[in-house]
Amino acid sequence: MGIQYCHSFNDFRQLAKKRLPAPLFHYIDGGAEDEWTLKRNTEAFEQVALVPNALADLTGLDISTTVLGRKLSMPLFCAPTGMTRLFHPEGELAVARAASQLETYYSLSTLSTVSIEAIGQATTGPKMFQLYIHKDRSLTTEFIERCKAAHFDALCLTVDTLVTGNRERDKRTGLIMPPQLTAQSLLSFALHPLWAWNYLKGEKFELANLSTRLARSEQDLVSVMSYVTEQFDRGVVWRDAEAIIAQWGKPFAIKGIMSVADAKRAVEIGASAIMLSNHGGRQLEGCAAPFDVLPKIADAVGGQIEIIVDGGIRRGTHVLKALAMGATACSMGRSYLFPLAAGGQAGVERALGLLKAEIERNMILMGCQSLKDLDRDKVMRL
Ligand code: FNR
Repeated sequence: MGIQYCHSFNDFRQLAKKRLPAPLFHYIDGGAEDEWTLKRNTEAFEQVALVPNALADLTGLDISTTVLGRKLSMPLFCAPTGMTRLFHPEGELAVARAASQLETYYSLSTLSTVSIEAIGQATTGPKMFQLYIHKDRSLTTEFIERCKAAHFDALCLTVDTLVTGNRERDKRTGLIMPPQLTAQSLLSFALHPLWAWNYLKGEKFELANLSTRLARSEQDLVSVMSYVTEQFDRGVVWRDAEAIIAQWGKPFAIKGIMSVADAKRAVEIGASAIMLSNHGGRQLEGCAAPFDVLPKIADAVGGQIEIIVDGGIRRGTHVLKALAMGATACSMGRSYLFPLAAGGQAGVERALGLLKAEIERNMILMGCQSLKDLDRDKVMRL
């Protein structure tokens, strides 16, 4: 079975499950603790239904929008995810190129396996860099200057990962980052020879943005989970975000905002966007779903700041529901990571193309010509 038979998130997920060693599949698929938040992220969309209008003139259908200073062909883009080369040898480059093909944002994680400079050279498409603030604050300044030189369009600061969430699946599967042949994982790697071959013959695993700071020996030894706990700065406050805005001078988003108070604070410090996110249910277990908190936040700050929603987006209709509730756009992680694992750049292009077609088709079925037509009258709570 190839990607041509994949028509939905679940199809890509099943194919990725076949292609990836079990610890890596579960690393993408899993969430924190009992995974209630992970499930809630998608289920929240099921508690709201769409209400279409009839006989609207739809000859000028347009689903393009502007997010963080760039025009996108659709209101959906790729959220940052770390260590992407583990899932496919083309890694971050494949996702960046696919996003560029579809004229939408690609977001590069601080913890990526391809560097800021390599992504800058690979595409002229919309691209943002996701910042984690390290205890060594000079790294933040360095990242910002590198992003300017590599012509990134936007920065986002992730604020929900001061410590890694308790992802019990990773403990059960014996996941070690980077993957190593342990007694527990050996069978799974042996059952996926293509993945193992690609991984072993490809470039060595490295945290590419940190290679100037970490000796190779450290990168081999440091498990990424303990890296987060050891290196990320828990003393980050709003003043720091303000300082980044001043140094960067271009569109800036805060990722991981979930409360009305924080959304208002983001407006006050001059952020361009807030990303309502619980990190795909991987961090605070029991956290509300972004779609659940969206209406209140949109009522408080809508029109003053762009509102991006991520978490549980699996269908074009999820995007339509979020926009009707007040979001500017949505982003997604697993909905491109499974297609990447299933089929590299071609897999991501296919998945993005299917989601774009779903948004277009369902806009027509909703009787909406432009994204502005999606308002609260187009949804009802069940
Ligand atoms: C993530 N996410 C993430 N976020 C971030 O700011 N920096 C990062 O390095 C990562 N890494 C990462 C790895 C993997 C495997 C996943 C699944 C997610 C979170 C990501 O940006 C986004 O918030 C969620 O993926 C959204 O949820 P869905 O779309 O996966 O349900």
